[in-house]
Amino acid sequence: MRDLEDIETVGVVGAGTMGAGIAQVSAMAGYSVVMRDVETEYVQRGFDSIEDSLDRFVEKEELDEGEKLDVLERIQGTTELSELSDCDVVVEAAVENMDVKQDIFADLDEELPEDVVLATNTSTLSITTIASVTDRPEDVVGLHFMNPVPVMTGVEVVVGEKTDDDVVEFAHQFAEALDKETWESDDKPGFVTNRILMPWLNEGIRAFDEGVASKEDIDKGMKLGTNVPMGPLELADHIGLDICLDASETLHEELGDRYKPAYLLKRKVDAGDLGKKTGTGFYDYE
Ligand code: 3HC
Repeated sequence: MRDLEDIETVGVVGAGTMGAGIAQVSAMAGYSVVMRDVETEYVQRGFDSIEDSLDRFVEKEELDEGEKLDVLERIQGTTELSELSDCDVVVEAAVENMDVKQDIFADLDEELPEDVVLATNTSTLSITTIASVTDRPEDVVGLHFMNPVPVMTGVEVVVGEKTDDDVVEFAHQFAEALDKETWESDDKPGFVTNRILMPWLNEGIRAFDEGVASKEDIDKGMKLGTNVPMGPLELADHIGLDICLDASETLHEELGDRYKPAYLLKRKVDAGDLGKKTGTGFYDYE
């Protein structure tokens, strides 16, 4: 199904930060949503983060309590991938691992009717490689949302080697229906955003590790000096240091040494200090 008017139900695979965010903005746009994760506990965590985010809109009087409940009611949680079989479009936002994504796409290809667009929120992995396990590579496209999804207005549409032009067009229209603005990238490692963002984050981490300045001054310098909302160390904590490391390693593998992850990034991930989500990264959040 490639016509925006025919879309009623959106499937989301993964109820982590990104999956929950995508489910939330889809429900806020009026779609019914089926949000799936592998464990009930993860699905519940997804609902909790959606509720926290909706509360912020209620606090600002951008939504009332009734609208908040309507949004929540439009989202059905499940641990069964087969429950996505009636969805009109699916966005996958599982872990950044090619084997996991290919397994999911092979299953989605079996479960979903022909012509249903299968989108992936991958941050750096190849759309073409993910699509290669399906019998519908022309219906597979990248829809790369930004974190936090309910606030960030941009979505990157990533065009795989076999993606049909009308699927690309559909991806733009669908993202716009979620009140996002889009831009397009070819299926090259990291696309536009992470190809440029990851070296920036790694360089900030190296600058800190090499004693150029305190972490506060590195973040302040970049914020005030270049007018970005967060400096590299606080943004890395916000994204999750494990996510930054995974993305950097893929870029390093595909594009060579200029993308080598910072040593301190690896050490923090090895120590389990993953940023805001674990309470400690470069900063403490407890
Ligand atoms: N849900 C709803 N509202 C939220 C929210 C959420 N999850 N998170 C923040 N907000 C709202 C707040 O309520 C607040 O609203 P207001 O201005 O109307 O009062 C506003 O956003 C600002 O939030 P805060 O005051 O809590 O904090 P900040 O001013 O520091 O803003 C931020 C937080 C929006 C995250 C801002 O710092 C920012 O834009 N940072 C950059 C984020 C970014 O670059 N994201 C992209 C990362 S790259 C990526 O995701 C790609 C991936 O592949 C790695």
